[in-house]
Amino acid sequence: MTDVARRGDRSPVPADWTYAPAPESTDIVRLQERYGLYVGGEWLETKERFTTIAPRDESPLAEVAQASKADVQNAVAAARDAFGTWSKLPGSERAKYLFRIARILAERSREFAVLESLNGGKPIKESRDVDLPLAAAHFFYYAGWADKLEYAFPNRTPKPLGVAGQIIPWNFPLLMLAWKIAPALAAGNTVVLKPAETTPLTALLFCDVVRQAELPPGVVNIVTGDGSTGAALVEAEVDKIAFTGSTDVGKAIARQLAGTGKKVTLELGGKAANIVFDDCALDQAVEGIVNGIYFNQGHVCCAGSRLFVQESIYEPVVEKLKKRMTTLRVGDPLDKNTDIGAINSRMQLDKITELVAAGEAEGAEIYQPPCRLPEKGYWFVPTVFTNVAQSYRIAQEEIFGPVLSVLTFRTPDEAVEKANNTPYGLSAGVWTEKGSRILWMAERLRAGVVWANTFNRFDPTSPFGGYKESGFGREGGLHGMEPYLDFE
Ligand code: NAI
Ligand code: MG
Repeated sequence: MTDVARRGDRSPVPADWTYAPAPESTDIVRLQERYGLYVGGEWLETKERFTTIAPRDESPLAEVAQASKADVQNAVAAARDAFGTWSKLPGSERAKYLFRIARILAERSREFAVLESLNGGKPIKESRDVDLPLAAAHFFYYAGWADKLEYAFPNRTPKPLGVAGQIIPWNFPLLMLAWKIAPALAAGNTVVLKPAETTPLTALLFCDVVRQAELPPGVVNIVTGDGSTGAALVEAEVDKIAFTGSTDVGKAIARQLAGTGKKVTLELGGKAANIVFDDCALDQAVEGIVNGIYFNQGHVCCAGSRLFVQESIYEPVVEKLKKRMTTLRVGDPLDKNTDIGAINSRMQLDKITELVAAGEAEGAEIYQPPCRLPEKGYWFVPTVFTNVAQSYRIAQEEIFGPVLSVLTFRTPDEAVEKANNTPYGLSAGVWTEKGSRILWMAERLRAGVVWANTFNRFDPTSPFGGYKESGFGREGGLHGMEPYLDFE
């Protein structure tokens, strides 16, 4: 209990609000000691394995298979076998399976949310309230299109491509799986999906959902492994590669696939501008700034990592922001009070640490609220940099951590120019009371998504994707269906 202060003859009030720990129980998750590859509806053993850990305390969770080139080719062959039957099913039949998956994900959402937080480090309140509902919603949404393709693309005779190879990152493991698998299956393709090496467990648990939904064997195949497994999938006899991850790997894949006739969509990094005008609702904007950069520890490709504040309100915005940051709770991802969980991996923590040191060395001013970090595990205190020049690395490079760079502008033109001064073009945010200014800005910002008076909002009906080095192709909505179809 917190201390209680007596105030004269009035009733006692707490002197200081502290939280009691509120850990979510992990009992609901039953992990196997070791997992194979899920291929053709069977679990296959591999020669090599690796250990997947919990980033909150570095404890081992399970042994996971490291798929070789031959294992990947085998999985692609299983997907090819299944394609014949799956693609010929009436769309309403395919929809039935997808609706089942959506329903099972909703039914088992607590189990998945706990596992997602355990293996990935994100706060349970986010996996519970964002990742899981959205993952189920994607299956539900694309189920609805499966029997309406001719109406969705009138006069274009849509046909599935064949086998889709899908490579996903570690920041939204189950959600990225849903973004990739749901439209592919709805369109009549079969898939081989490779989860990221640090977060394979929800994809492996998803195989049990596939079994429960009685999906025909080989329609969904999951191969685990590191980058070499991903590279093997790109090389294999697939008809399409869908990749989400770093710009470097995305570029390598684009080079590798040029001229092969394989289709490709790439969803890569970002360095989003979150632009705050002086006529905005300030407190709401501060909430949006915090959500924009500290959501999921900043491991978000569309994170609002560059804050542009109109000069006239620079001081109050920075002051309110710092004050708000002192209330953020960093710690155990499985605690329901936690706002900022564990950094996903040692590698990512090193990258964040290195870029933050570069920011200080280049002359930016750092602020980190006082905060006690757990002893074990990977953690980074929410950080804001002021006095940032556009040329600094922290203003140019994707940090992919809870680190915000604050810059300023005077006029809307200047805001647009600075916001677009980046190799990326994934997302942007605009905070202003003026509707006409929102439209004016949205027209000029080179970003796939522009949020107005909100940030990091997602819905399966809404396409998402980038310009420039953020990649190409869209996921979500009908736009997300098109890359999984051929048109006569
Ligand atoms: P990464 O791009 O290496 O990993 C993403 C996925 O690609 C993983 O499944 C990985 O196994 C696979 N992969 C790696 N090398 C591959 C290859 N040669 N061919 C095919 N697949 C391959 O990203 P990493 O190393 O985990 O993170 C590095 C940086 O990338 C992060 O700090 C962040 O800035 C950015 N990133 C951006 C993401 C986004 O959502 N746009 C997601 C993950 C990372
Ligand atoms: Mg990498």
